[in-house]
Amino acid sequence: MSELLWAQEISQRIKEKEKVVADRNRHKIPYTTNDGIFDDLTDQDICWWTNGFWGGMMWQLYHATKDEMYREIAEENEKKLDVNLMKHQGMDHDSGFKWLTTAVANYRVTGNPDSFNRGLLAADNLAGRFNLAGRFIRAWNDNGDGSNAGWAIIDCLMNLPLLYWAYEETKDPRYLHIACAHADTAEKYFVREDASVNHICEFNPVTGEFIESKGGQGYGVGSSWTRGQAWAIYGFVLSYLHTGKASYLGCAKKVANYFLASIPESGFVPVDFRQPVDCTLEDSTAACIAACGMLEIAKVTEGRESSIYHAAACRLLKTLAKKRCDFTTDCDQIVNKCTAAFHDEKHEFSIIYGDYFFIEAIFKLTGEELFIW
Ligand code: GLY
Repeated sequence: MSELLWAQEISQRIKEKEKVVADRNRHKIPYTTNDGIFDDLTDQDICWWTNGFWGGMMWQLYHATKDEMYREIAEENEKKLDVNLMKHQGMDHDSGFKWLTTAVANYRVTGNPDSFNRGLLAADNLAGRFNLAGRFIRAWNDNGDGSNAGWAIIDCLMNLPLLYWAYEETKDPRYLHIACAHADTAEKYFVREDASVNHICEFNPVTGEFIESKGGQGYGVGSSWTRGQAWAIYGFVLSYLHTGKASYLGCAKKVANYFLASIPESGFVPVDFRQPVDCTLEDSTAACIAACGMLEIAKVTEGRESSIYHAAACRLLKTLAKKRCDFTTDCDQIVNKCTAAFHDEKHEFSIIYGDYFFIEAIFKLTGEELFIW
């Protein structure tokens, strides 16, 4: 079966499942499932960084099917996030994850001026986190003693498209300057000699001087958290798409090559490429995100090189679809065995962005994607 036919078949199974799942979870903002039923962060934690992915899934499905139910659910998710937009301490580096998937997606599809306003407010807040001395966007908020004011993280590359969008809409180059400065800093300090990436880099927030890299959600200092590697692959190629700067594509390819060379024989992506050899913990989200990034690299490269990234992304997705996905309506999630952080107590559960990036990757293959980033 050709890869396109395979992806079309998976797309059909996604649509059949989500028609039921979205309907029965209409008024929620899910993060994970408990016994196969989506939880709801609406009242639990409206500022949580993943709260846009449900809306993003709904926009992808609306774009692919034109079923109004999805648009209504996505709009409800977007409006609920206004509480977050009004809460300064709930705003952080993850604004792209929350508002590109909701408000900006809505604006792209419908031109809604309220959504445009939300997107720009979020972009302004993100731009306001820029540290001029160190040329990075600050990660997280004050931990109580000010000691994390100089922290930047690899994940933040995925939020830069909110600034690129704001620049493209307003033609105000400040958004572009900030996004590029952060991407340049990531290229210089996060990408290691062996093409793996750090999760956290600490800079002196006053002088901007690089201090050290830290362990984060992976196994430890100097380890190789797979979702961080995946954020780098997708994040750098997105910066390339928005700016045309060749070195960003170079970084995306380098990290992708490292990622592909590190996948164990099983084909399942571990939580950290440097976790102990007897540790079998997996993170399917890393596989979904890396596949999205590789498919974008495949689009901007040619010939044999392009086929390598395209085939690698398909291999990751096929392994997931066969062994890690549930397309029945018996449970709300699609993707299983996702892990938020190596040292968390809970591992290998369902996480909403696993489903989001799996759907996005499949829709990239079928041509049904709404480009969110
Ligand atoms: N952005 C946080 C994470 O990837 O877990």
